[in-house]
Amino acid sequence: MRPTLTIAATLAIAATAALAHTGVKDPQVMARMDGMKLMADHTKTLGQMARGRIAFDNTKALAALEGLKSETDRIPALFAPRAADPKSEAKSEIWTDSAGFKASTAQMANALNLADVASPEALAGSMRAIAAACSACHKDYRIEN
Ligand code: HEC
Repeated sequence: MRPTLTIAATLAIAATAALAHTGVKDPQVMARMDGMKLMADHTKTLGQMARGRIAFDNTKALAALEGLKSETDRIPALFAPRAADPKSEAKSEIWTDSAGFKASTAQMANALNLADVASPEALAGSMRAIAAACSACHKDYRIEN
C-alpha cells in the first residue's frame, strides 16, 4: 500500500473513535476504549504531520510517539479481563487466542520502537509500519462495522 493511503486509512480509524464510545456501560470496556481513543488521537497527530496538514514539530511528534508506546504497554492489562458490553467491538479471539493477541501487541510495540520521527519524511515512512500494526490487530481481534 502507498504510504499516503495508509495514513489516510489511519486517520479514518482515528475519526471513528468518538462515535463507537457512546452508551458503553461496562467500566473495563470503557477503559480499554479510552486507551484506544488515546492511541487514535496520537496517531492522528502524527498522520497529520506526515501529510503536512499541521506543521512538523519534533517535540510534539516525540510526545505522540511516547503516548502511543505507553498506551501499547497498557494493552495487556486493559484486555486481560474478559469484559463484555453490547457496544464492544472486541472479538472473543482476544481471549481464545491470547498468544496471537500478545503477538499483535508486540508487533505494535516493535513498530513504535523502530519509528523515526526526526523529520517529516522519516515520520511518513514510520507511519506505514504503525498503521499496519493497528490494522493487523483490528483485522484479527476487532469487529469492524
Ligand atoms: C493488539 C491489538 C490492537 C492494537 C495493536 C490496536 N488496537 Fe485498536 N482496538 C483493538 C480492539 C480489540 C478494539 C475493540 C475494543 C472494544 O470495543 O472492546 C480496538 C478499538 C479501537 C478503536 C475504537 C475505540 C472505541 O471508542 O470504541 C480505535 C479508535 C482504535 N482501536 C484505534 C487504534 C489505533 C489508531 C491503533 C494503532 C496506533 C490501534 N487501535 C492498535 C485492538 C488493537
